[in-house]
Amino acid sequence: MALAACNPTGGSGGDEENFVNLYTARHYDADRQLYAAFEEASGVAVRALTGNAEQLLERIRAEGDATEADLFVSADAGNLWRVKEAGLLQNVTSPALEQGVPENLRDPDGAFWGFTKRARVVIYRKDAVQPEQIASYDDLANARFRGQIVMRSSTNTYQLSTLASRIERQGADNARQWAAGVRANFVREPQGSDTDQIKAVAAGEAQATLVNHYYYVRLLKSEDAAEREAAARVGLVFPDQLTGGTHVNISGGGITLHAKRPGRAKQFLEYLVSDAAQNLIAPLNTEFPIRPSITPAPELAALGSFREESIPLDALGRHQAAAARIFEEVGWR
Ligand code: FE2
Repeated sequence: MALAACNPTGGSGGDEENFVNLYTARHYDADRQLYAAFEEASGVAVRALTGNAEQLLERIRAEGDATEADLFVSADAGNLWRVKEAGLLQNVTSPALEQGVPENLRDPDGAFWGFTKRARVVIYRKDAVQPEQIASYDDLANARFRGQIVMRSSTNTYQLSTLASRIERQGADNARQWAAGVRANFVREPQGSDTDQIKAVAAGEAQATLVNHYYYVRLLKSEDAAEREAAARVGLVFPDQLTGGTHVNISGGGITLHAKRPGRAKQFLEYLVSDAAQNLIAPLNTEFPIRPSITPAPELAALGSFREESIPLDALGRHQAAAARIFEEVGWR
C-alpha cells in the first residue's frame, strides 16, 4: 500500500496544533490551493494523506477508534457510501452545508456532502453519428449501434453508479435490459480508462461511449496536439434531457466516526462549499461547481447548461450490489 503523507501548506499560518487531517482519494493541484486558502482564512492547517478510496477505507477501518482521519474525501458517491455503510462516518448538518449543497448532491442522512459535480455523458464520433441519434442513454443499447460501442469495465465505480441510478429511476428489470443491450453492441471486451474510450471513438474504433465529462475537457485542454485532435473528432451529449436528466455524481467528504477534531473537520467541509472556496476552485477545475450560481471554468460553460437527474444520492450506494449482479448476469465484465 503506497500512502504518502504531506503537509501541502508549508510552514506559514496557524500554530502546529491547529490542524485537521484529511484522508483523500483526490490528488489535484486545485485541492492543494484550497487547503492553503483555508489555512490562510482560518489558521487551521490541512494535512492530507492520499491514497485510493479502497485503501483509505481499509486504513480507517483498521485504525478503528485510534484513527487520525478527521475527514474522508473521495470522488463518486458510491465510494463515499461504502465508508458510510461500514459505519465509519458520522451524520452531520449545519445551515452552511444545507444551503451550500443541493439536496440531490448530498447524502440524505448527512454522512457525506458534495463539493463538486460531474456528469456521465455520451461521447460520439462526429463523422458517423448525429447527436440526435444518441440523445438518451437508451440509444447506447439500440441495435443500430451493434458492434459500435466501447465501454469501460463494469468493476469501475462510475459504471456501477451509472447503472445504480438507472435501477433507482427505472427499476432493475429495465436496468438489466439496458445493460444487456449495450453489451450486445460492444466492439470489444471492456478495457482501459474513460480517456481510452474517448480515444477509441476518436480513432474510429467505435461510434460512441459513456464517460465522465471532465475526461473530454482534459483532452480539449491537453498540451498534446494528438489529444486535442482526438477531442476535436468527437462530440459530447448530455443524455436524457427530455426525460430524467443526465446522471450526475459528486466529489465529496464526510466526517469520520472517530474524528479527533470534528469541529475543525466540519469547518473545513463548510469551507469547501462556501462561495469563497467554490469561486477559487471553479476556474481551476474540470468538474462543475456544486451550485449553479457559481460560474464554472470557461471550457465547462462552453458545454452549455443541462438538466440533471434528481434522485437521492445514497441510491448510488444502495443499488451498487444489484448493479454489479446485473453487469455479471449480462456478461459486461
Ligand atoms: Fe475520474
